[in-house]
Amino acid sequence: MTKAKIIDGVALSAKLREDVSRRAAALTAKGMKPGLAVVLVGDNPASAVYVRNKVKACEQHGLASTLDRLPATVTEAELLLRIQQLNADPSVHGILVQLPLPPHIGAHKVIESIAADKDVDGFHVANAGALMTGRPQFRPCTPYGVMKMLEAYDIPVAGKSAVVIGRSNIVGKPMALLLLEAGATVTICHSKTPNLAEHTKSADIVVAAVGKRNIVTGSMVKPGSTVIDVGMNKTDEGKLCGDVDFASVNEVAGFATPVPGGVGPMTITMLLVNTLESAERAALA
Ligand code: GUN
Repeated sequence: MTKAKIIDGVALSAKLREDVSRRAAALTAKGMKPGLAVVLVGDNPASAVYVRNKVKACEQHGLASTLDRLPATVTEAELLLRIQQLNADPSVHGILVQLPLPPHIGAHKVIESIAADKDVDGFHVANAGALMTGRPQFRPCTPYGVMKMLEAYDIPVAGKSAVVIGRSNIVGKPMALLLLEAGATVTICHSKTPNLAEHTKSADIVVAAVGKRNIVTGSMVKPGSTVIDVGMNKTDEGKLCGDVDFASVNEVAGFATPVPGGVGPMTITMLLVNTLESAERAALA
C-alpha cells in the first residue's frame, strides 16, 4: 500500500494568510485596520501559549490585536464589564475569550455577552443557531479550517460518509454541521460510543477530535479514506501528538493530517479570516 498523501496545514495556512495580509492592508489603507481583542483569564499554561500564538499571528498579518490578561480571581461581573467595553469599541472587530474559564465564571453567560457580530469563534448561540440553520456568519475556526483543507485537496464531501469523533461545542458539533451542509452523511461518535471501529471502517472521511491518543488506528479506517486529526495531546516523552496513530493510518488512508503541522495552524488562520471578514462587513455598514 502506498502511503497517504499528507495534508499540509502549514503550507495551506501560508497561502490563505497571504490573502488575509493583502485584504487587511487594503482596509488599513482606508483607515479601518481590522482588530482582534483576546481575553485570557487565569494562568492555564496551554491557554497562554494558544493566546500568544493568536496575537502573534495578528501582528504578522497586519491585524491589530489586544490581549487582556485577567487574574483567575476576576469576578464574572468584572469580566462581563470588560466584554461590554470591547463590544462598544469600534476598533474591535473580533472578540475572543479563551476557554476554559475558571469554574466560578459561567462560560455560557460570558460567551452570550459577546456581541454576535464580533464573535469570531462562532460560539455565541446566535452564531451556533445560524450555522445550524444554514446561514452561518462566523464558522468556528477549527472545523472551518478542516473544511478548507478538504476543499484545497479536492477531497469530495457531497455524497460521502463522514464520521466525527467528538461532540464538543468548539469542534465536534460544528464540524458535523459543516460536513452535513456540504452534503456528507454524518455520524457523530464520542467517548461513550461502543464499537467505534464499526463506524470508522466504512467512513470516507474521519475527523478525530476527542483528545485521546491513538483513538484511531490503521485497522479502523477504510483504505483510501481521509483521516483528519484535531487532537492535541502529549506523548509520554512530552512531545505533541494527536488522536490518530499516524504511523498505522498512514499505511491505509488516502489522505491524512500530521500533528503538528496539520489542523493546528489552520485554526489560527481561520481566526484571522473571521476577524478580517468581520472588519470588512463593518467597513461596508
Ligand atoms: N480553547 C480551545 N480552543 C479554543 C478556541 O478555538 N477558542 C477559544 N476561545 N478557546 C479555545
